[in-house]
Amino acid sequence: MFAAMTISRPLTTALLGGALLALSTLTPAQASEDLARKKACLACHQVSKAVVGPSFADIAKKYKGDKKAVDRLAGKVRKGGGGVWNMPMGPMPAQGQVNEAEAKQLVTWILATN
Ligand code: HEC
Repeated sequence: MFAAMTISRPLTTALLGGALLALSTLTPAQASEDLARKKACLACHQVSKAVVGPSFADIAKKYKGDKKAVDRLAGKVRKGGGGVWNMPMGPMPAQGQVNEAEAKQLVTWILATN
């Protein structure tokens, strides 16, 4: 019945701590990847390979250390635009299916993928 009591307390604490850590570090990234899938970003983008659009890892590399990148790129996602990556398809179409908060969440996640 009291199975947990037979395990030493430090071990229980460590196991619990590990589970909490895993939850707090994995869940936001997974939630953002889910959002990217739901909002069809993944129809043109992959994390580590350029397909129709540039890879998210390349985007993260390009804007590393650029503190204004989240606002600027979130705006570009919603309005669409080109001229940076010169992909064969041309500019990214406006992604009007995401609101400003979602666009910022997605870009924040994208910039952390490298
Ligand atoms: C129809 C294809 C398509 C879809 C869908 C799409 N993208 Fe893009 N995306 C592109 C292309 C093409 C570019 C390259 C634009 C350029 O050269 O400036 C791009 C560029 C980007 C960039 C980098 C912009 C820059 O100026 O460096 C970000 C960030 C981005 N996309 C995020 C998203 C997000 C988030 C979504 C989903 C809400 C999304 N994309 C959906 C095609 C797409």
